[in-house]
Amino acid sequence: MSNANYIKIAPSILSADFANLAQEVMAVEKAGADYLHIDIMDGHFVPPITFGSDVVKAIRPHSKLFFDVHLMIENPMLQIENFAKAGADRIYIHVEAEKHLHRAIQLIKSFDIQAGVAINPGTSITTVEPIIHDIDSVLLMTVNPGYGGQSFIPTSLNKIQSLQALCEMLEINHIEIELDGGINKNTITTAHQAGATSFVAGSAVYNTDDYAQAISMLKLKACE
Ligand code: DX5
Ligand code: ZN
Repeated sequence: MSNANYIKIAPSILSADFANLAQEVMAVEKAGADYLHIDIMDGHFVPPITFGSDVVKAIRPHSKLFFDVHLMIENPMLQIENFAKAGADRIYIHVEAEKHLHRAIQLIKSFDIQAGVAINPGTSITTVEPIIHDIDSVLLMTVNPGYGGQSFIPTSLNKIQSLQALCEMLEINHIEIELDGGINKNTITTAHQAGATSFVAGSAVYNTDDYAQAISMLKLKACE
């Protein structure tokens, strides 16, 4: 188990009990979560609406966890400042949602937090190449964003290798690759074998009775 410590698990509060959000956040922190993944949906980029920066601000005092904010919203430029000031430690914007990627990434970095881009399963890794020097991480979607509890799309894993090859070619070695969607004890082994070490897990953590067990199980299964 100790050799699985390099694996990062980021429970997504999308599957948490929204009526008890502060307790749900504290519970995964206590259970050994590495990051807290916060899914922001606007009803345009993806059909559902979740919550805005005021909710992030409200939970911030209840946790020391790294806040991993995933903006699934159109015009992310308009919201970056709000989420940064609300306590985000990293903000992901979707390459499909922003026409001026460099400007948006620079704005995130201006708040002294990490900047990342997220890409949908149908989007090529070539969209990341122009801004690869400016970002800290890439969120590879392994489902089409919008909902928790969907099935993992195995072909998305091919992109890990393309991304690693790109980084190698450009001699960039600081990019974190995080996978998001459909990660559970059955899919995490292949995902880890494909080269990923950071994983978002919504339903696989929050839809269980024992969050600590769910998180250790994911770490264990990743290393099988
Ligand atoms: C999907 C979200 C994910 C979601 C993952 O649109 O970006 O973060 O919460 O949920 P699971 O792990 O249940 O697929
Ligand atoms: Zn997400």
